[in-house]
Amino acid sequence: MRPTPISREIIDRAIEEYGIMDYANATIREVKAIAERAERESGQEFIKMEMGIPGLPAAQIGVDAQIKALQNGCARLYPALPGEKMIKDATSRFIKAFIDVDIPAECCVPTVGSMQGTFASLLTITQSNKKKNKALFIDPGFPVQKLQLEIQDVPYETFDIYEFRGPKLRAKLEEYMAKGDVCCLIYSNPNNPAWICLTEDELKDIGELATKYDVIVLEDLAYFAMDFRVDLSKPFEPPFQPTVAKYTDNYIMHISGSKAFSYAGERIAMACISPAIFNRHYPDLSARYDGLPFGKVFITRTLYALSSGTSHSAQYALAAIMEAACNGEYDFRDDVIVYGERAHKLKEIFTRHGFRIVYGMDGDQPIADGFYFTIGYGNMTSGELARELMYYGVSAICLATTGSWQEGLRVCTSFIQDHQYKILDERMAIFAENNPIES
Ligand SMILES: Cc1ncc(COP(=O)(O)O)c(C=O)c1O
Repeated sequence: MRPTPISREIIDRAIEEYGIMDYANATIREVKAIAERAERESGQEFIKMEMGIPGLPAAQIGVDAQIKALQNGCARLYPALPGEKMIKDATSRFIKAFIDVDIPAECCVPTVGSMQGTFASLLTITQSNKKKNKALFIDPGFPVQKLQLEIQDVPYETFDIYEFRGPKLRAKLEEYMAKGDVCCLIYSNPNNPAWICLTEDELKDIGELATKYDVIVLEDLAYFAMDFRVDLSKPFEPPFQPTVAKYTDNYIMHISGSKAFSYAGERIAMACISPAIFNRHYPDLSARYDGLPFGKVFITRTLYALSSGTSHSAQYALAAIMEAACNGEYDFRDDVIVYGERAHKLKEIFTRHGFRIVYGMDGDQPIADGFYFTIGYGNMTSGELARELMYYGVSAICLATTGSWQEGLRVCTSFIQDHQYKILDERMAIFAENNPIES
């Protein structure tokens, strides 16, 4: 057994002091804190892959527009609840340009990040029909959305898509939806944490079922156009960002400024509500909120009560970014494709040392290289692998925390630095030697 790059005592002590009983359930913040502490104590650099936050500079067009908006005095006013005209128009145009779907400006509403967008959507949807009180997740997924439902005391069901790709997805979804109590379906595409992308056939099945069972799909496009296998960044030209909106009228898309435009700090996203839902009167919602249709409740009740609108200046920033992208003046893919390049190098290192990519395929195609990917090793459980890698100065989170039923870890590429590939390669060589896979 070769010595590990970080002494086992340092890691074991830190885990014990944080009171973590089962490392499989350690949160991102705990993993981060233990890695930082071990780094300080050992003097050895950690390769940090647990955080899912963007590691690139914010889109400059946005920064410039935001500064200008502030200098023009927008800070003194409360923002209009439905959002400023310019961002509503820009989003409607952006959706046409990059998704090839028509959504009127009225139905595009700024939110304080997609985080608020999904919170407000879930709150409004789950009050729409008393007979349909459950949310359904296609997992693995973004854990905070489950927390949002727990806060709202709304029950949810979830399944891991791993065994249910392709035609099997339809049957699995129908198993839940046919019970009649599901009001919404949630997934991210590309997916956090697995970076799988739903195929057109899968989206078609989801859309058809959403219509059949009157379920609203919350399509979380936090990683907009970041399936780098294809170039989705040419305005008004195919290929377009795939969406369920091609197959049903029951959807709300959430487009975030955080990842595709590296604008996470200003907390800006757009909730893009299908006009059919926006204008629909749900009897239970109308009874509670003065006879208003869905879209008006979402804006004038839910968002009003949550934050009274979204920061003006951030709206100007996102509008400028979207306009520039639509005009072909700003190729946002160029700015973020580095995540894909990093994933490619990291996957090569991990797989050369015996790791496998847990969620590896979309239909008959290997998954894209992007912001995240997932790794497993031999028969190790998620908790064993995550803890063992800490002895090698590599921190990542367990898939169990994302609703996955698979053993493995989520790797995030956002903080990887160029000099770290060599270190990772050396450390994973020792790891593989110390942990031979039994055949
Ligand atoms: C799938 C998914 N949805 C939403 C978000 C949050 O987006 P925002 O920063 O716009 O609130 C994230 C951030 O990590 C995410 O991974």
